[in-house]
Amino acid sequence: MRAVPELVRDPGTWQRRCSAARESGRRIALVPTMGYLHEGHVSLLREARRRADAGSKPGLALATIFVNPTQFGPGEDLARYPRDLGSDLEKCAAAGVDAVLAPEDAARVYAREHETWVQAERVSLGLCGGKRPGHFRGVATVVAKLLNLSHPHVAFFGEKDFQQLCVVRAMVRDLDFDVEIVGMPIVRDGDGLALSSRNAYLSPDERRRSLSLSRALYDAQARSAGGERDATALVAAATEILQAAEARIDYVEIVDPTSLAPVSRAEPGSRMLVAAYVGATRLIDNIMLP
Ligand code: PAJ
Repeated sequence: MRAVPELVRDPGTWQRRCSAARESGRRIALVPTMGYLHEGHVSLLREARRRADAGSKPGLALATIFVNPTQFGPGEDLARYPRDLGSDLEKCAAAGVDAVLAPEDAARVYAREHETWVQAERVSLGLCGGKRPGHFRGVATVVAKLLNLSHPHVAFFGEKDFQQLCVVRAMVRDLDFDVEIVGMPIVRDGDGLALSSRNAYLSPDERRRSLSLSRALYDAQARSAGGERDATALVAAATEILQAAEARIDYVEIVDPTSLAPVSRAEPGSRMLVAAYVGATRLIDNIMLP
C-alpha cells in the first residue's frame, strides 16, 4: 500500500499545484467523485494511476471528493448523502492516488456571485435529465470547474452513470476542453447489483429487491440475443421484472448509445437504461444490448 495521498482543501491551491505539475511535463489523470468510495470508484482510480504513469516519467493520479449541491434537486438526498473522508483516503491510498481535492464546503467551490452554467442541451433532455430537472446542468458545470482546476490530460467516468458520461463527452467536444474522457465499465456486486454510494441507504429487504434492476437488464440482453429486437416488447418484459419486486419505475428505455434518442428496434450497441425507486432510494443501471 502506498503513502496516504496528500489532502488539499482549497481549490485555488489545488489549481496552482496542478498547473505547475502539468508545466513540468507530468501526465495528470483525474477521477472526479462525490466520495463514499466503493470498488466502482476504485476501478477508475486504479486506471487513473496506470494511465498517469504511461508516459516517460511518473505522472499524477488525482481524485476529487465533493458532494456537489448544484446537481441535487429540492427534496433530493443532498443533506443525507453518505460521507466518510477517512475511509475514502485509505481507498485512494490503496489505489495509488497521489493527491485528493476535498473542499470543505460549496462556498469554497462556487463564488457567491456564481452565474455561469454549462448545459448539454440534447443529451440531457430525457432519462434522468427529464426526471431530475437541472441535474445535468449542475453535473456539467462542476465537471467543467474540476477540469479547469485540475488540468488533467485524461479523466475517468463510469458507464454506471451512462447519461452523465454522454453529457461530459458532449461538453468536452463542444467547448474544446483539452482532455481525453475515458468511460469505464460498470462494477457490480457478485449478485449483479451495480455498486453505488446510494446502496448504503438500502435495508436488507430493499437490497434484495434492488436486484430486479440488473435482472431486468440481463433478461433484456438475453432476449435480444435470442432475436427479440422490438423495444416495446423488451421494455415490457423488464417492466414486469421490476414491478414484481415492487420497484417503482422512473423510466425503462432503449436508446441510441450516442444521441440517447429512444429507438423502436434494439440494434447492436443500443443501450437499455433503467431508473427505479426501491423504497425511498432511487437506483439507476444500464446495459449494452448485443
Ligand atoms: P459519484 O457518484 O461519486 O461517481 C464518481 C464516478 O464513479 C462517476 O464517473 C461514476 O460513473 C463512477 N461510478 C460510480 N459507480 C460505479 C460503478 N459501479 N462502476 C463503475 N463506475 C462507477 O458521478 C458523480 O459522482 C458526480 O456526478 C460527479 C461526476 C463527481 C460530479 O459531481
